[in-house]
Amino acid sequence: MRDKIQALLDEARSALSEADTLQALEALRVQYLGKKGPLSLLLRGLGQLSAVDRPEAGKWINAARGEIESEFAARETDVKKAARLAALASETIDVTEPREDYQLGSLHPISIILDELVDLFVGMGYEVVEGPEVEYDLYNFELLNQPKHHPARDAQDTFYIEDNIVLRSHTSPVQARTMLSRKPPIRIISSGRCYRADEVDATHSPVFHQIEGLYIDKDVRMSDLKGTLEAFAKRIYGPDVSVRFRPSFFPFTEPSAEVDLTCPACKGALGGCRVCKGTGWVEVLGCGMVNPKVLELCGIDSGVYSGFAFGMGLERLAMQRFGIPDMRWLFEGDARLMGGRR
Ligand code: DAH
Repeated sequence: MRDKIQALLDEARSALSEADTLQALEALRVQYLGKKGPLSLLLRGLGQLSAVDRPEAGKWINAARGEIESEFAARETDVKKAARLAALASETIDVTEPREDYQLGSLHPISIILDELVDLFVGMGYEVVEGPEVEYDLYNFELLNQPKHHPARDAQDTFYIEDNIVLRSHTSPVQARTMLSRKPPIRIISSGRCYRADEVDATHSPVFHQIEGLYIDKDVRMSDLKGTLEAFAKRIYGPDVSVRFRPSFFPFTEPSAEVDLTCPACKGALGGCRVCKGTGWVEVLGCGMVNPKVLELCGIDSGVYSGFAFGMGLERLAMQRFGIPDMRWLFEGDARLMGGRR
């Protein structure tokens, strides 16, 4: 019996020393320590021994079992450790290996322009304010001297949510909101999405962005407006840009003007330029002296205060500045605009 057990132990040890995976170990565990294994068989056979030999034999079997179990545990620790080391070795990162190619993103052209404008106007003492995109007719039209019969209120131009609620058609309602809630001096800019019921094409989109400026104080004059917009023009298009004011009409300003700048693409060289259609000028914004009627509607004494306002579309600026021929590119996540350097 003793020899048998010893032989079993030797056999188990040598099998163990060759097992180098957890699966192999488990198979050996079943083989040697399982219910049908040799030790269990020996235990079961104890009954056939004499009462004298039985306790001794039982002790041997149990000792052998204990030994095999502790050898299993030791081997299991070794196998696990080896597996961990192998995994570490195979997962080592070679930091000197050349990287795979990837693309950097970049700011959207509208964000680039907006950041620059905010920077410029904040530098001139303007404060950034925001207004809602779903707006009351009152602020979008009425207080801006665009009464009920005004053609710009036509549902073909403006999205109506209800009779007196619209998707703002410009950022100008923020002017009315600001004048009603603050006292002069007021110097604010506001930008954001605006909506008009336009068909989508290369120069129109039902959703677009504007930036609006408003300055109200004592003795604000047209010359202040010109100086401010010249600073703006030079910042956006460079120091050589020329600024041209053309008389225009807006219900909320009087007098009103539209402002053209030297074409950034051809620099005013008359020819076949696509950006300015050969005129040498690009139209960039609307502006004027705030209509005294608007000041009064918004609770500001037009006998004491005057002011100027301006508003412009960011899409047009971005298109002129970056030579983007189609407005749709700005809304379609075009990788040529959003991708950066490789
Ligand atoms: N709100 C005008 C538009 O959407 C732009 C504009 C013109 C804004 C003159 C102004 C302004 O503040 O004074 O076309």
